[in-house]
Amino acid sequence: MQHNSRPVISNQPGPHQELARYVSRAQAHPLRKPIAEHTQRNFALAAEWLAGRQTPLILDSGCGVGISTRQLAEQFPGHAIIGIDRSEDRLGRDHGDLPANALLVRADLVDFWRLAHQAGWAPEYHYVLYPNPYPKAGHLKMRWHGHPVFPTLLALGGRFELRSNWPIYVEEFALAVAQVTGKQASITEIAPKGDYLTPFEAKYAQSGQALWCLRVDLARG
Ligand SMILES: C[S@@+](CC[C@H](N)C(=O)[O-])C[C@H]1O[C@@H](n2cnc3c(N)ncnc32)[C@H](O)[C@@H]1O
Repeated sequence: MQHNSRPVISNQPGPHQELARYVSRAQAHPLRKPIAEHTQRNFALAAEWLAGRQTPLILDSGCGVGISTRQLAEQFPGHAIIGIDRSEDRLGRDHGDLPANALLVRADLVDFWRLAHQAGWAPEYHYVLYPNPYPKAGHLKMRWHGHPVFPTLLALGGRFELRSNWPIYVEEFALAVAQVTGKQASITEIAPKGDYLTPFEAKYAQSGQALWCLRVDLARG
């Protein structure tokens, strides 16, 4: 299928000038917003499933329709893969049976990551693939690295991978990682060429857009 998806357009010429301040504020003021009851319930079900598997964990946060979750499950047969998304519509689309080592969970990540951290989860790998960019400068707080939950996301630890078609998102994320952890994330351009991990990756690549991948090994905090 050919796609014609437009590159991200933003009024930001480079990393947001307020980024460091937002990150410091998130570090100083841990998020206190109460956890939604449905996320609590779905987290409990996921925890039960995971306890039954006794294998290392991989998180696919913001998994959309769960194609990446399925692919990761095949790539890592000795791991338990949990794909999380808040969209019932996306999760409900039929993309075939889920492998036995994969689970899709409907939840808001802001709550799910906090519950996972409280429960002591320590994913070996953590994927955040093509998060919503929120490219307007005024929406920095909605990007994961500008959000108050950011320190909790990093504290989950693991080999972390972020992919995006917006280089500024990836650059900002790396700056925010360095601010919180002192670690320098690697940023590379990727060219999957038909071997797409997610539908958004396919759409952007087939529209001729550059794709960026950030990787960093995070310590469990
Ligand atoms: C641009 S889509 C990418 C989906 C998939 N990773 C892909 O690459 O095809 C971003 C996804 O993140 C999900 N999402 C955004 N904010 C979320 C949140 N707070 N909690 C859970 N899912 C969220 C959306 O529902 C959407 O499916």
